[in-house]
Amino acid sequence: MNILLLGSGGREHAFAWKIVQSVDCTNLYVAPGNAGTATIATNISLGITDFPVIKSFILEKGIDLVVVGPEEPLVKGIVDFLQAQPETSKIPVVGPSEMGARLEGSKDFSKRFMLRNGVPTASYETFTASELEEGFAFLEKQNLPIVLKADGLAAGKGVLICLTLEEAKASLKEMLIDQKFGEASSKVVIEEFLTGIELSVFVATDGENYKILPEAKDYKRIGEGDTGLNTGGMGAVSPVVFADEAFMKKVEEKVVKPTVDGLRKEGIPYKGFLFIGLMNSDGEPKVIEYNVRMGDPETEAVLPRISSDFLHLLHGIGTGTLAEYQLKISPEYAATVVMVSGGYPGSYEKGFKISLPDPESESVIFHSGTGKNEQGQLINQGGRVLAITGRGPDLSTALANAYATVNQISWNKAYYRGDIGKDILNLNK
Ligand code: AMP
Ligand code: GLY
Repeated sequence: MNILLLGSGGREHAFAWKIVQSVDCTNLYVAPGNAGTATIATNISLGITDFPVIKSFILEKGIDLVVVGPEEPLVKGIVDFLQAQPETSKIPVVGPSEMGARLEGSKDFSKRFMLRNGVPTASYETFTASELEEGFAFLEKQNLPIVLKADGLAAGKGVLICLTLEEAKASLKEMLIDQKFGEASSKVVIEEFLTGIELSVFVATDGENYKILPEAKDYKRIGEGDTGLNTGGMGAVSPVVFADEAFMKKVEEKVVKPTVDGLRKEGIPYKGFLFIGLMNSDGEPKVIEYNVRMGDPETEAVLPRISSDFLHLLHGIGTGTLAEYQLKISPEYAATVVMVSGGYPGSYEKGFKISLPDPESESVIFHSGTGKNEQGQLINQGGRVLAITGRGPDLSTALANAYATVNQISWNKAYYRGDIGKDILNLNK
């Protein structure tokens, strides 16, 4: 198979790493990719939302399978675009339709979908700019803290947890009237604050059948002890101890099945990954959000635990033959530590030379924001630069392996959190 993978993050390097392990991978192209994907596949410089150019590339290279990593092309309708063109309409694509991608692209849409389909979630109401006064009145009746969410995509920054009524009112006005997140906050979802422990659940579906992939927990904030600004993710671990069999059974019955059934019943085409962010509230799952893609850095911890052929899984999703796929999951633990540019998620300097350990390292080194300078040296080019995954028979060994490799990597102003997985290790005790 000739495969085109869209994206450039650690998630896509992990996808590429698994895909090239398959006997059925002939050529893998990654657009645009990063310095890591360049070592195992062919990077192609094309824009991931430039659909006509993508189509031409697919035809030129005889692509048999398209895999979409990030949400943006999905929300912009790449799947519908390729299906509407006679030359590409039969080529399987891993990723939901534009309508399916609204589960991530619009919080209001996803909340209404959950309500219609009986998926447990926080109670909420949605307000627009002309309903500011109603929004204030609603806020006055709610308990604190209270959660405000921009309806549209806001680069992971659109969720505000407000501790006081004044803060909530001011934020609501900023979002609706001052367009704090631009068009994305022209609607705001106000929702109940959920307490509990967060978990990321990953589902592969072809619209009819589904497979539940290993779950993970990610570490979102920049500082140790989960303090400071939100980031795209500073680390992840899989499996997660508090997601025991009984809890995962509830997740499957109360969340996964009604979601996949709801998509089918509502006629929403969905062949792709579904990432369900949920809270374990006293043993009951409640959905915080849907994402229509795999998580990053969760993918870098989840994929190393899949021991069956990952390309076959992707093919099963894209061709609607997932029922035939035998998913095998390794009982091993995986722990991922993300190394970032100093200053991230604020401003940071790029272009520092990265020194890596020799390839014999115990861990897998996934690249994210990396590139090459004019001398061909590896440099940091983004906020999140590398994701290091250690493995082992238990979490502490997996973490020790990851950190052993992290300690051999350096560049000017590199930063990472030293406490990934520690909260879970403490739960184990
Ligand atoms: P999101 O951008 O939707 O991923 O939300 C960012 C983070 O905000 C989530 O990962 C949660 O930690 C937190 N969050 C979102 N909604 C709620 C909620 N209803 N209750 C508590 N925390 C929430
Ligand atoms: N790690 C969270 C995300 O990918 O959205």
